[in-house]
Amino acid sequence: TACGGGDESESSEEGGEMLNNAGTLQVCSDVPYPPFEYFDGDGNVVGFDIDIAEAIAESMDAELEIVQTGFEGIQSGVALDSNTCDIAISGMTITEERAGNMLFSEPYLDDNLGLLAATAADVSSLDDLEGLAVGVQADTTGATYAEEQGYEVREYSDSGLLIQGLESGQVDAAIGNISILGYQAGESDTSEFIEEIDTGEQLGIAAQSENTELIEAVNEALAEMESSGELEELEDTWFLE
Ligand code: ARG
Repeated sequence: TACGGGDESESSEEGGEMLNNAGTLQVCSDVPYPPFEYFDGDGNVVGFDIDIAEAIAESMDAELEIVQTGFEGIQSGVALDSNTCDIAISGMTITEERAGNMLFSEPYLDDNLGLLAATAADVSSLDDLEGLAVGVQADTTGATYAEEQGYEVREYSDSGLLIQGLESGQVDAAIGNISILGYQAGESDTSEFIEEIDTGEQLGIAAQSENTELIEAVNEALAEMESSGELEELEDTWFLE
């Protein structure tokens, strides 16, 4: 029986214990973060990340399940470690600190930070932010940057609330990733995009620190999407300039 037990654990390794629930790829994502992940008119979660998640699930012959998760839990690794999901796709920047708590895929998109300001506020560059209230999404690279600069920072728990805070005049400006701020600026007449902050961020998909098998499968799916041109097509679809 000892022998049989050994066989069993070997074959289950091959059979892929890489997913928490065989046949389903559970993906943590902090919604809304348009155009990466947001609710469409019918209440479905859609976006660039969601299409990528769909392609990864398909490559694994698994069903996709999006698990809406606060960004704090995602970026700290807690959501992954507590098996809330198998992987996290959340427009998340690969940072050294985060890489200590999770395993990142190869980068799937380049990003930078940006500054958005209320049209009513007198802001034409980062230099004008002194004494103004600057909104950020908590626990993001934008929050870290704004705090380091010594701005008067107001944190919002999600990016929807951040944009509302800017639109309603709670804050004069917002700092976050250009990939979403550029999109938001296009949607609004009360705020405008001011400038890009060249942080050279790269976005990655994450799995539990020990789950190399899963992150390799993710990397394979990404490589396939890249060589087939699907990744570029998705970028064109979701990030129209
Ligand atoms: N790229 C930034 C970061 O990793 C912000 C990501 C926020 N994502 C989200 N789905 N709210 O810190």
